[in-house]
Amino acid sequence: MDGNGRWAGARGLPRTAGHTEGEENLARLVRVAVTRDIGWLTVFGFSTENWVRPRAEVRHILGLHEKLFGRVAELNELDVRIQWIGRPFDSPEARTPRYVQRAIRKAVADTAHNGGMTLTVAFDYGGRAELMAAVRAARASGEPITEATIGRHLYLPDLPPVDVLVRTSGEHRVSNFLLWQSAGAKIHFCDTPWPDFGAADLDAALELLT
Ligand code: FPP
Repeated sequence: MDGNGRWAGARGLPRTAGHTEGEENLARLVRVAVTRDIGWLTVFGFSTENWVRPRAEVRHILGLHEKLFGRVAELNELDVRIQWIGRPFDSPEARTPRYVQRAIRKAVADTAHNGGMTLTVAFDYGGRAELMAAVRAARASGEPITEATIGRHLYLPDLPPVDVLVRTSGEHRVSNFLLWQSAGAKIHFCDTPWPDFGAADLDAALELLT
């Protein structure tokens, strides 16, 4: 969801205002996505690399995740199941604060019964960290290291392969997002900054699948 900072800068607003609008836009886009019959939508909310951002910005983004995971009534209304992907809370490197952990656990439990779209939020997530953890877990289990065993030890083994990867705000590079799962994915590039990413942008990305 790139471009929150640039969206705010273009309006003379602080970066945090861009993130606030980014969270609102995610709520709007989830509504659109369910009307397009999308089964799985996964968004990159906060990476393992993002912790080096200024403390006030990090605190603001954490609060927005608490807010997003608090939207249980909306998610239930839309029949959306929310889940989280990231460094397991009990792993030594994990950095998710307890109040965000609580919001995540509650939202995951309170939407688990929904059978519509699955919205997965990546928080304290890095594709390389996930692969390292999967290889370590596969090795510790004594299984041979194969694609199948690594796949079984990913953070969310049931997350299907990525069909379309969307890069917003003019970014033309691979990030540390779902590295294993996005092998072979189509990529949709658009210049729209995340807070303005709407139905037309989503439809343009889905065009790649037809
Ligand atoms: C990318 O824009 C945004 C982030 C790293 C922040 C996280 C995303 C949001 C707050 C959107 C809402 C989502 C959730 C899950 C609460 P940037 O800061 O890199 O902006 P720039 O590329 O213009 O500098």
